[in-house]
Amino acid sequence: MKEKKILCIVTGGIAAYKAAFLVRLLKQRGALVRVVMSKAATEFVTPLTFEVLSGNPVSWDLFAPRDEPGVEHVELATWAERIIVAPATADFISKSAHGAADDLASTVIAAARCPVYLAPAMNAGMWENPAVKRNVALLEGDGRRFVEPGSGELACGKTGPGRMAEPEEIVGALERSFAPGNLDGVRVLVTAGRTEEDIDLVRYISNRSSGRMGFAIARAAREMGASVSLVYGPVDVPVPEVDSAKSVRTSAEMKRAVTMAFPRCNLLIMAAAVADFMPAGKNPGKMKRGVKGIELELRPTPDILASVSGKKKKDQIVVGFALEEKGGEEKAREKIRKKGCDYMVLNVISETTGFVATTNRVTLFKGNRKVLETGLVSKVEAASMILDKISSDTRLKRKPKRVVRE
Ligand SMILES: Cc1cc2nc3c(=O)[nH]c(=O)nc-3n(C[C@H](O)[C@H](O)[C@H](O)COP(=O)(O)O)c2cc1C
Repeated sequence: MKEKKILCIVTGGIAAYKAAFLVRLLKQRGALVRVVMSKAATEFVTPLTFEVLSGNPVSWDLFAPRDEPGVEHVELATWAERIIVAPATADFISKSAHGAADDLASTVIAAARCPVYLAPAMNAGMWENPAVKRNVALLEGDGRRFVEPGSGELACGKTGPGRMAEPEEIVGALERSFAPGNLDGVRVLVTAGRTEEDIDLVRYISNRSSGRMGFAIARAAREMGASVSLVYGPVDVPVPEVDSAKSVRTSAEMKRAVTMAFPRCNLLIMAAAVADFMPAGKNPGKMKRGVKGIELELRPTPDILASVSGKKKKDQIVVGFALEEKGGEEKAREKIRKKGCDYMVLNVISETTGFVATTNRVTLFKGNRKVLETGLVSKVEAASMILDKISSDTRLKRKPKRVVRE
């Protein structure tokens, strides 16, 4: 973190006192730290505390008179290499999700072009409020990164999720962002979303995959310098900007698109939740309701992961995903053996992990070996951690950079 320019934005929650520890830790690691507070934050901790800890003046007033001419919010946003909002209140998350800019803190975020991290802290009721969840999803869609709150005793006296991540964890996320694994010149193919398998003209079977994990991987791979192609089924979140994106609907369409694109990629990450079963025979019309129930015969869908793994060349890496109920480690190891892929990302089904959730807890296997185990982190963080590990694989082929000689 030496000489890295970090802007800490402190908003008005009890955890503002933890931000003092964060500033101290960042300074100890050699970072240059400036602090902006919301007006509400100054009710919890005085600006003087942050001035002393950061060694810099602290601002909170958008319209404060200045000794030198200049636009402070633009100057701060341009100065920062990383912005960390800690604690991030429900109010501040809502404001920044909607682009509001009515005080110094929110105006800096609105003007920021550098990576912005948020460490939410609030009562469990607020953290689980659907409006807060919506706003977090909006910000994640805009590429903002969350350092997920933990569960534990909260300032309100209750126990539950919403407790701000510890300062050490926040510093870890910032450090990782400065030294990400490198995927320069690597061609990455990512699959994301779910598939739909037709029963008749209007009905289908599918699953609840949102596309969040796959899209987070595509975005992170691009940030790490890869050229990224995406094959995605139906999703619930906006499609990220990548080098090429193909939308498909059924497992058969996904297989075709992946098989076509696979020979050109160095790294394939199959994060899509491809249906395991499809109706045995498609009814060409719309089935009538009738009085009796119907029996639906299902047959397995094409196994895309096994098929591409069987065709991969020595310098191609294939990563599969396994979604299991508790204790799926053995199943994940078995899946690697059966499918012949190189890595397997295991995620476990729970309220906060697997499908739908914005968070995940993953274990990465390389062959039989466990090489990464994350705590509960945002899917964006999980994606960075997975790619960080895989990027050091020596089999990864990179297109050499062209050297221009004068
Ligand atoms: C004692 C007290 C504690 C609070 N703690 C939190 C909190 O932990 N998280 C939160 O989102 N809001 C909390 N609030 C509410 C915020 O302070 C309030 O929404 C405020 O408008 C936030 O302003 P800001 O987002 O501009 O900092 C608390 C309020 C009080 C009075």
